[in-house]
Amino acid sequence: MRRITQDTPGGPEVLHLEDAPVPEPIPTEIRVRVTAAGVNPVDTKVRAGGAGLGSAGGDMTAPPFTVGWDVAGVVDAVGMGVTRFAVGDRVFGMPWFPRQAGAYAEYVTAPSRHFAHVPDGVDDVTAAALPLAGLTAWQILVDAADVQRDQRVLIHAAGGGVGHLAVQIARTRGAHVVGTASAGKHADLVALGLDEAIDHHTEEVAEATRDIDVAVDLTEVNGPSSLAVMRRGGLLVCVPSGVPEGLAEQAEAEGKRVTDFLVEPDGVALTGLARLVDEDVLTVRVAGTFPLEDAASAHRELEKGSTFGKLVLTL
Ligand SMILES: NC(=O)c1ccc[n+]([C@@H]2O[C@H](COP(=O)([O-])OP(=O)(O)OC[C@H]3O[C@@H](n4cnc5c(N)ncnc54)[C@H](OP(=O)(O)O)[C@@H]3O)[C@@H](O)[C@H]2O)c1
Repeated sequence: MRRITQDTPGGPEVLHLEDAPVPEPIPTEIRVRVTAAGVNPVDTKVRAGGAGLGSAGGDMTAPPFTVGWDVAGVVDAVGMGVTRFAVGDRVFGMPWFPRQAGAYAEYVTAPSRHFAHVPDGVDDVTAAALPLAGLTAWQILVDAADVQRDQRVLIHAAGGGVGHLAVQIARTRGAHVVGTASAGKHADLVALGLDEAIDHHTEEVAEATRDIDVAVDLTEVNGPSSLAVMRRGGLLVCVPSGVPEGLAEQAEAEGKRVTDFLVEPDGVALTGLARLVDEDVLTVRVAGTFPLEDAASAHRELEKGSTFGKLVLTL
């Protein structure tokens, strides 16, 4: 099979195609013939030599390795014991995270429970764009924060891959949703369900909003400013690289809560997310597609840092 690999950490140019053996599924695993693979910032961070995963990213600290976690495709073989999938089923998932999944490849094997079925009405590119970003938004807003009707939710980087899904998921919970994004994205984000849009280039969050119950910082830099606009008892989730030094103590002193977060594979949650997409409750915005062999161009595009939605590799 063809897959993308790298022999050294570095810029997008280190990504190149190689031939590799097709992997065999062991008991409880399925093999997926990949038709589309989503691109995430963690892919570019691991490619460059680090993603803040520490020893959790154990098998990806020294090349050669294949980045990528988001896949959609067709079940091509099933290991002993698998009951939920059969050869020919359309599936999608975020297998193995944060261990190596090798998703930028023609075939992936992983535990069947890391996957869910793709509904007939959802295409493969959309399905491949959904897992990591969708699970992140879901696990933060539903599992960790348990967002309730009429709560005020603040999402920093509302126009990114995670953010545009988080806006919609918070809205489906009945929350009032505030988000930061460049002004050019505001109208589209309001159409997706954003109630208050803040332009982070021209406005101060502390002056633009207040009384936030749940704040999701997808930017690394907005922890302190988020804390300042939160109610007592509110929860701040610091997503990209954990809780900044000193912020936990400050939160505690102010009667607020703060946590780090790392997304986990969850086939059950994926089934729920796929249903929301199929029912047009959740819109997955695909900002661009690239052929597998052009993964480097996808990385260059994502690293510009202004993508509105998701980038996907096609096979
Ligand atoms: N811990 C985890 O489990 C986990 C899971 C998923 C993602 N992440 C991390 O979360 C971050 C976001 O992921 P993503 O997939 O959404 O990334 P993305 O699609 O690349 O999103 C980038 C977005 O960030 C916005 N942005 C940049 N600086 C900003 C600022 N100062 N204020 C507000 N918005 C800003 C940009 O919006 P504008 O163009 O509007 O400025 C752009 O839309 C990444 O660092 C990623 O690695 C962590």
